[in-house]
Amino acid sequence: MRIVRSIDELRASLADQRRGGARIGLVPTMGAFHAGHLSLMRRARADCDVVVVSLFVNPAQFNEAGDLAAYPRAEGRDVGLAEQAGVDVLFAPPVDEMYPPGFATTVSVSGLSEVLEGAARGRKHFDAVATVVAKLFNAAGPDVAYFGQKDAQQALLIQRMVRDLAFPVQIEICPTIREADGLAMSSRNARLSASDRSRAGALHRSLEVVRRAVAGGERDPAAARAQALAELSAAGVEPDYLELVTPDGLAPVQRIEADVLALVAARVGETRLIDNQLIHPLSIVRSASDNGRG
Ligand code: PAJ
Repeated sequence: MRIVRSIDELRASLADQRRGGARIGLVPTMGAFHAGHLSLMRRARADCDVVVVSLFVNPAQFNEAGDLAAYPRAEGRDVGLAEQAGVDVLFAPPVDEMYPPGFATTVSVSGLSEVLEGAARGRKHFDAVATVVAKLFNAAGPDVAYFGQKDAQQALLIQRMVRDLAFPVQIEICPTIREADGLAMSSRNARLSASDRSRAGALHRSLEVVRRAVAGGERDPAAARAQALAELSAAGVEPDYLELVTPDGLAPVQRIEADVLALVAARVGETRLIDNQLIHPLSIVRSASDNGRG
């Protein structure tokens, strides 16, 4: 595996293979790898001739200085894990490579960047995500890029950006990888105290409550939501939001007649966690695509 720090080096390291028609896959990350990240890398390894992973803790997308400072960094460990996952190139640029002096451009996806996580964290968060991912696409020129369903709103936003700006890249959304109790894997989980870690399982359970209510015939989103809020409350978890929305536009639903995306965000202790689940009202059996465990 090659480790490259500059965009010029990255382009040079991919040039020959690109000319030879190799299929290049990109997995954008902020490092501190866990099984969720590794699942994206393995998927890219299975699909592509060349696998590029970017590791860049993007300062602009953090709305709290404390969150950026506390964000786990473990490049040495990440290098070993990426190597084991069969990654060919690790692109780990310094901040001034991504944000050179005088950097003044923003890619902003209106609408999608303003609701839910955008409302909770401020729209600058998703502007910063869209901008850095656009730059990573330009730097690596991937044929395919892999994102996790765990960050459903982010994945939607990237898909919209790619469509709107005609980036020549295919976007693949991969299932959420979970701990045994259902907690979605996240680099932030390491910051949970033991008691917060056990309470954190309530996020996934609250989404399961929605899924079971809908499977049982509930069609009123407010009623399904109330049951889910009760599950969180029983665990002493106060959500930032828990919403049932349309899976493609993130618009509130009046009645559950088609697929809905249930999303939750909550602070557990000092740590803010998010999760989501796509819910199919017409199928009684939970589909494999909903269950990313493993
Ligand atoms: P990061 O949080 O490091 O996540 C990198 C990728 O891993 C994202 O596509 C995310 O959705 C995916 N991922 C995280 N947890 C996962 C899980 N439990 N199961 C499956 N996939 C999971 O998301 C970012 O970085 C940044 O915003 C980035 C896109 C790199 C832009 O800076």
